[in-house]
Amino acid sequence: MCGIVGYTGPREAYPIIIKGLKRLEYRGYDSTGVALQNGGIKVYKKKGKVAELEDTIVGKDLHANTGIGHTRWATHGEPSDRNAHPHQSASGKLAMIHNGIIENYNQLKQELSNKGYTFTSDTDTEVLLNFIEEIKSNNNCSLEEAVRVALKRVTGAYVILLLDNDDPETIIAARKGSPLVIGVGKGEHFLGSDASPMLEYTKEVVYVNDYELAIVKPDELILKNLGNEKITPYVQKLDLELAAIEKSGYDHFMLKEIFEQPRTIHDCLRGRLDAMAGTITMSGIQQYADQIVNTNRIIMIACGTSWHAGLVAEYIFEELTRINVEVEYASEFRYRNPVINKGDVIIAISQSGETADTLVAIENAKEKGAIILGVVNVVGSSIARTSHGGAYTHAGPEIGVASTKAFTAQLAVLTMIALKIGYIKGTIPQERYTQLLKELEEIPEKVAWTLQHSESIKVLAEKYKDARDFLYLGRGYNFPVALEGALKLKEISYIHAEGYPAAEMKHGPIALVDESLPVVFVATKDQYHEKVVSNMQEIKARKGRVISVITEGDENAEALSEDVMVVPEADEILAPMLSVIPLQLLAYYIGVAKGCDVDKPRNLAKSVTVE
Ligand code: M6R
Repeated sequence: MCGIVGYTGPREAYPIIIKGLKRLEYRGYDSTGVALQNGGIKVYKKKGKVAELEDTIVGKDLHANTGIGHTRWATHGEPSDRNAHPHQSASGKLAMIHNGIIENYNQLKQELSNKGYTFTSDTDTEVLLNFIEEIKSNNNCSLEEAVRVALKRVTGAYVILLLDNDDPETIIAARKGSPLVIGVGKGEHFLGSDASPMLEYTKEVVYVNDYELAIVKPDELILKNLGNEKITPYVQKLDLELAAIEKSGYDHFMLKEIFEQPRTIHDCLRGRLDAMAGTITMSGIQQYADQIVNTNRIIMIACGTSWHAGLVAEYIFEELTRINVEVEYASEFRYRNPVINKGDVIIAISQSGETADTLVAIENAKEKGAIILGVVNVVGSSIARTSHGGAYTHAGPEIGVASTKAFTAQLAVLTMIALKIGYIKGTIPQERYTQLLKELEEIPEKVAWTLQHSESIKVLAEKYKDARDFLYLGRGYNFPVALEGALKLKEISYIHAEGYPAAEMKHGPIALVDESLPVVFVATKDQYHEKVVSNMQEIKARKGRVISVITEGDENAEALSEDVMVVPEADEILAPMLSVIPLQLLAYYIGVAKGCDVDKPRNLAKSVTVE
């Protein structure tokens, strides 16, 4: 939930760390700090974003060749200067940054307090750091050894980076449950929560695994397990360009990512879907095809937007494969005692591949004999590595906190899986299969068409930006799209919005409707269309303001709407990939019109690596 960066080598560490932290701000941005080896450890930290820290330390001697930096999303302790990382140990000789949660920190704190320790922050991080220092001085051992001993006592999740006054060129790092990448350069090493801080310096990276500890020096990288056995680092080539993590002229990452969707969906289909040949090639699915075809149920597990993709997929899978599908919030599923039978298929959907609840939920299901398939965007992420098989969404780095292009790529992948399984199972008539493949191939073009109408949505945003509440309604495949539209608006513009199945509206939410309530209907042409149009009449009769996402040329729905956002005609199974686009744009433009920080909405972080 936080971003961490480290550097040791011949270059100036501070600019590398600051630039890296700015790239990682999507992970959290309520306070920032750096620790530099500059004739002793110097710590600079502050509540607020990276740029605010930069402003306050202008003119300081920031020279250092080794350092660590942190951008925080608060868990233990409010966002404040004193809770910002890095923390220093009681002696001042060690500094540490941490991403994760130490669950038994209260117990450790009590032990340390009994020995006379006092704490300057409310964080679990400071407790762990002093626990490490206590072990180091009691056992008269190296920092590496002390970290190893301490971590055996720790429950929870962490990536930690430590500096030691007595060993100024070395960074000690360890991970369990939160991501850590080490970039290998010539006589230098980079550390990060992801590879973005090191992109312009090296393409050689090592993804550190859980329960591994790294001793990182300029010209040496030693990896060990917690049993002190050496592990050979597996150096991989990074397939990521700098341009992919820059705004490329757009005002915000979110807008860039919305506009990237024709390409990202195309990239996701490329090499997999061949409509002419009538084939879908997905090796990570193919190897489990028999088990999927013969399973009694599929459980989709995800959070947030990825959960909405799972809901759309539930409709698609049940239609095309006739397999019973359940869609679960990972955070609920992991704490229930769910009935999981050997042979059940779990599809874990996650952009980041690091969402803690999803990760733990699939680990639990794996233990019970389920087959785990990951639909994940970030290559090499924890969920991708924990899954037996699956398919990457190939949407490229998604930096805006609000998920956009990852959602449509998830839909594209899930649709291909359903088509593939339905075809093998014989539950899709040949003609429909052929037609869906052909139409799926056309989706990137139709998304591009939809995006051409963005200016008119900007006008709508100005008109509706002062509304206090919004209601989003849809049926069938478009019901989860209504949920997604409402989530986008909430997180970007802080306007209260509710998504609801259009027919359920009569069972409660209709009481909210008056002349001040904008009601957004996701009303593209599908089997439920006439019923949705009746729901529009019901809203209109109560003076609600109807705004609709409609299929181009649908005069009937247009006549009932105060404003419309138009998408091209598409098969109902594929329509969510189109109908969500205007809702992403509406949320974006309303957020901008209200002066919100759309890429970094308050209280949020891109990947939720704590429960
Ligand atoms: O990385 P994941 O897809 O696992 O993340 C799940 C949610 O945290 C994420 O979709 C979140 O809801 C986004 N802010 C939505 O825009």
